[in-house]
Amino acid sequence: MIKTRFAGINFENPFFNASGPHCTTKEELDILGQSKAAAVMTKSCTLEPREGNPSPRYVDITNNSSINSMGLPNLGYKEYMKLIPELTVHNKPIFSSVSGMKIEDNIQMISELSDVKELDAIELNLSCPNVVGKPQVGYDFQQSVEVIQEVQKICKKPLGLKLPPYFDFVHFETMAKIINQSRVNFVTCINSLGNGLVIDIAKEQVVIKPKGGFGGMGGKLVKPFGLSNVRKFRELLKPEIQVIGCGGIFSGIDAFEYILAGADMIQVGTILKQEGPTAFQRLTDELKIVMQAKGYNSLDEFRNKLKEIE
Ligand code: DHB
Repeated sequence: MIKTRFAGINFENPFFNASGPHCTTKEELDILGQSKAAAVMTKSCTLEPREGNPSPRYVDITNNSSINSMGLPNLGYKEYMKLIPELTVHNKPIFSSVSGMKIEDNIQMISELSDVKELDAIELNLSCPNVVGKPQVGYDFQQSVEVIQEVQKICKKPLGLKLPPYFDFVHFETMAKIINQSRVNFVTCINSLGNGLVIDIAKEQVVIKPKGGFGGMGGKLVKPFGLSNVRKFRELLKPEIQVIGCGGIFSGIDAFEYILAGADMIQVGTILKQEGPTAFQRLTDELKIVMQAKGYNSLDEFRNKLKEIE
């Protein structure tokens, strides 16, 4: 009932982890592999291993939301290259997220990861808001063109882009045009809303340490923007370019809304951090319940069928 096809691969259900929580170490990835997640995504990697930013660097906030400034803690791409073949015991597609500090790093990592035969797809992260001194590439259209042009020459896997949220129709159109002129196979909308600020009123203090308390916002708070970005990119991108929805998906109803807005698959970040990988069983059960109540037998029956008011 909720099987889906994405990047030429069949998936048991549309849910998997966002590159973010619970996907940095082999232990975490194995637990995801054993869960009901339809695929496993490895944490955004860099050339060298990184410890990330000082703690506290992730805090849950009210309304099922979160703020983080992890700063790309990861094992380094060479370690993920070694790990990926070991993850095939779980019999699920494997995605790798790549987040180089510069264009040359992305080229090196993607060209080497392309030769890992057990890897199914690569998601190039154009939207990490948490590295001091590094702007979000997705907000710099010229830099986005350059990195996409270079990476697509050497990437031998289905290639996706993790995009930051856009808030302006001209920006949606500019980015969609860039992507339509590339060989990119999918986009993931959205990464966290960058540089929010949360205050602890009792302490009269910020709640995370890095960057003076500024961090990426995730969870329920960002859902309307995740939905709008999925909807807009689905409208503007060529039909063969698929869209992954991400941002504030806590229930089967949230997932239903994203698919109605045009999402092909769903990634979860904050709920995975808060509830752990058992969330995937609950989400698949809940999505089936919503579909049954509405009389749908497949995702295709309602995908991208959101109605406007006449
Ligand atoms: C981190 C946060 C992001 O939103 C992202 O896309 C990549 C990395 C981080 O802080 O680790």
